[in-house]
Amino acid sequence: MQLRSTERQLGCALALCFLALIPWGIPRARALDNGLAITPTMGWLHWERFMCNLDCQEEPDSCISEQLFMQMAELMVSDGWKDAGYEYLCIDDCWMAPQRDSEGRLQADPQRFPGGIRHLANYVHSKGLKLGIYADVGNKTCAGFPGSFGYYDIDAQTFADWGVDLLKFDGCHCDSIQHLTDGYKYMSLALNKTGRSIVYSCEWPLYMSPLKKPNYEEIRQYCNHWRSFADISDSWQSVKSILDWTSSHQERIVHVAGPGGWNDPDMLVIGNFGLSWDQQVTQMALWAIMAAPLLMSNDLRNISPQAKALLQYKDVIAINQDPLGKQGYQLRKASNFEVWERPLADLAWAIAVINRQEIGGPRSYTISIVSLGRGVACNPACHITQLLPVKRELGFYEWTSELKIRINPTGTVLLRVEKRSHTSKSLI
Ligand SMILES: *[C@@H]1O[C@H](CO)[C@@H](O)[C@H](O)[C@H]1NC(C)=O
Ligand SMILES: *[C@@H]1O[C@H](CO)[C@@H](O)[C@H](O)[C@H]1NC(C)=O
Repeated sequence: MQLRSTERQLGCALALCFLALIPWGIPRARALDNGLAITPTMGWLHWERFMCNLDCQEEPDSCISEQLFMQMAELMVSDGWKDAGYEYLCIDDCWMAPQRDSEGRLQADPQRFPGGIRHLANYVHSKGLKLGIYADVGNKTCAGFPGSFGYYDIDAQTFADWGVDLLKFDGCHCDSIQHLTDGYKYMSLALNKTGRSIVYSCEWPLYMSPLKKPNYEEIRQYCNHWRSFADISDSWQSVKSILDWTSSHQERIVHVAGPGGWNDPDMLVIGNFGLSWDQQVTQMALWAIMAAPLLMSNDLRNISPQAKALLQYKDVIAINQDPLGKQGYQLRKASNFEVWERPLADLAWAIAVINRQEIGGPRSYTISIVSLGRGVACNPACHITQLLPVKRELGFYEWTSELKIRINPTGTVLLRVEKRSHTSKSLI
């Protein structure tokens, strides 16, 4: 049947509205009920930058020690990180002594953490920050320190007694899917039983997926965030592999994220050595689109003003922390461009366009406004602000218009689209 043009237009609009309901209109599963991570966790985590450096003789400034964390705590407050929202100062692997104490409790390495973790937690709390710690569901941590298998209750209680506020629970040295699944669930309940509010950061799907498809709805009931993909490293190769994994699994993972539980694509490596400026812009923009925990791993004592400004960019953090709590997704991929979008509160949208071509110079991309936000972001008009790579008011756009942007190789243009008309300048 041939539709007349107005009917066809209406039919199109309805089709787009219908698209808006699937596949990400599925109701979200219940989240872990601990009242935490209502927006993605923000903070600092030592792993990518400092790894398992135990040599405090040769490298006193970069070994895993209480001095490192006390220095970072001071800088998080004095250099504006806390004010920007970075709140959790997190210890990763390699903080432990090689043995448990006589009562079976984990203990910090006495040389590197002479004051112990309780003392460090008090110090971190005195700065208005929160402390994160690390343990493992199996018999050993990834670096070979004591694992929590058989000690879940004792370890949860120890962390609560120390005043810990977040637990990253790794999945190395675990011999079966059953132990992995039971262990992650058990620890969630053990943390709850302590009565202390402790963010629970899991790697359950990462260790499970080689053997069995993770059930993300179930994982969300036990964890505040969960890693599904390999550790990030300080390279564009690593960042783009995470983006590719995420877009190719988005129909399974995007709808699961929401207040209380988030997909975790791993740390921000902005401010280190491996990413060009454009690649750092891409990581910041896409971690905002993905509603990712923002856990920086860098050296706050030595970071460029440009990287600092990017990490503390309020408008981009506001997208990451948007109260609607819906993760974005890849909308389209063609000619080495990727368009991603994320619905925001107040009918706004964030749009990111990445130039994935790694040869040549900046390339132009023309956005057809009607295609944004499942056809409704700019109906009948919207106001667009470019946030990255630099902030620029682009003005008002009609539903049927086009927007042409230029993007550097491996860089991203991040836009905020708001539903305002010329005349009212208010939400419609
Ligand atoms: C423990 O779980 C219950 C319900 O499942 C919840 O109401 C309570 O706030 C939780 N407590 C903590 C400390 O997370
Ligand atoms: C830990 O080691 C014991 C003894 O070898 C083994 O029975 C148990 O299954 C292991 N647990 C895990 C989670 O790998």
